[in-house]
Amino acid sequence: NVLILDFGSQYTQLIARRVRELNIYCEIHPYHNIPENLDDFKAVILSGSPFSVRAVDAPHPDLSRIKGHKPLLAVCYGAQYLAHFHGGSVEPSNIREYGRAKLSTIYGSNGLFAGIEEGTQVWMSHSDTIAKLPENGVQLASTKDVGIAAYQIEGEETYAIQFHPEVYHTTDGKQLLENFLVHIAGVAQSWTPAAFVDTTVEQLKDKLGNDKVVLGLSGGVDSTVAATLLHKAIGKNLYCIFVNNGLLRKDEFESVLHQYKDMGLNVKGVDASARFLKALEGESDPEKKRKAIGNAFIEVFDDEAHQVTNVDWLAQGTIYPDVIESVSVNGPSVTIKSHHNVGGLPDFMKLKIVEPLRMLFKDEVRRVGAELGIDKQLLGRHPFPGPGLAIRILGDITAEKVRILQEVDAIFINGLREWGLYDKVWQAGAILLPVQSVGVMGDERTYEKVVALRAVESTDGMTADWVNLPYEFLQETSNHIINRVKGVNRVVYDISSKPPATIEWE
Ligand code: XMP
Repeated sequence: NVLILDFGSQYTQLIARRVRELNIYCEIHPYHNIPENLDDFKAVILSGSPFSVRAVDAPHPDLSRIKGHKPLLAVCYGAQYLAHFHGGSVEPSNIREYGRAKLSTIYGSNGLFAGIEEGTQVWMSHSDTIAKLPENGVQLASTKDVGIAAYQIEGEETYAIQFHPEVYHTTDGKQLLENFLVHIAGVAQSWTPAAFVDTTVEQLKDKLGNDKVVLGLSGGVDSTVAATLLHKAIGKNLYCIFVNNGLLRKDEFESVLHQYKDMGLNVKGVDASARFLKALEGESDPEKKRKAIGNAFIEVFDDEAHQVTNVDWLAQGTIYPDVIESVSVNGPSVTIKSHHNVGGLPDFMKLKIVEPLRMLFKDEVRRVGAELGIDKQLLGRHPFPGPGLAIRILGDITAEKVRILQEVDAIFINGLREWGLYDKVWQAGAILLPVQSVGVMGDERTYEKVVALRAVESTDGMTADWVNLPYEFLQETSNHIINRVKGVNRVVYDISSKPPATIEWE
């Protein structure tokens, strides 16, 4: 187990993902909330930070229980922090180093750089520089512009690097992390999907015993993997509910329900399309549409959960990025818990919560899913928003508009699969625009709907860029849509990145 102390860097989660890729378990904790008990942590990594160590409001945690006691790797801000408070000095630098640099010199043969050659590319992102080494500091590497790019504190397993080993552009970053964690700190590489499945199933058995659990399946990766794990642990005591809100992709409800049943899950499909459509009637404001769908879902789910007698637990597919306590760059963050009026909550929300995936990143959820033997196509599905097609039909929703968009979307998505493009795209879908345009079909003038196609690449949905789909593919797709979907006479392709646009149009 490795502890990552977060100082608010945008790359902290990347450090954790790189460590996990080495099959080593790690946890991120904010610098102002260091765990009381450090016994389980075999090594510690300090993240970067948007702060300057010289700023009065910069993070200044007490590391006395860590430094000199545990193998420690300090990255960027962490490296400056150690220097600044242990007899070295940090100054604003004349040359700000952002982006690529080369480690021109590696001094001696320190284990941290084992297998790494001089000239290797590293990624820098800092404007302060370490001017003087801390007490007992030994310089390990430098770049053309940064003398102290890496150092060790002699007599301790304390290492510090000015560059970011976690980013892809640091070519030997993974090697360096492996050198530190495996060879210097001696951490075992035992965090594998198979080990996770075994221990989690055992833990779930212990925790849940003979209790009953309800879980809402969405067709997405997280809820599917959570359900499969729970099923392995408690079998028929897991009651899955899969709600059709009428805003799913074409035929998706039936086909996914079928797949779930084939997997042996105890699942009830509930077709509540009419109820959702009614709740959305006449509503065109995006946020109000989301609310209406959310409320309708809660009502339907509550009704269904009541059908299961003596249920104790609600299972959720929450994943690690949702539970990491974040460090606010405007000072330590204060988590404001919304004050629930418990009396007013639907009954299922009063159940105890079980979240088998809460320590996993998304890519790990997929690996665990593969380990569990879940169908590749289910695991590789694009993300799909909870409110579904409702936020891709701009303006108000009618059954007819849903039907049109389902047809268009199916042609687009099936086309991506047929052309071998589906897995190259992070998310794709069609949007029904609230405009009509003039066209001509045969000898007749038409005045019909416009659809936009959107396909993006991304890693987490926070930033995204449009995908350069082949013209031939777009041409064929556009033809198919206009010829086959009655009511559409024009297709456009969205070429906006996020930011400044968003992935969805609403
Ligand atoms: P945006 O449009 O904000 O989308 O760039 C980023 C990611 O979030 C998804 N998304 C949603 N998911 N409920 C959801 O469950 C929502 O209301 C919602 N809005 C956007 C979107 O599909 C993309 O993956």
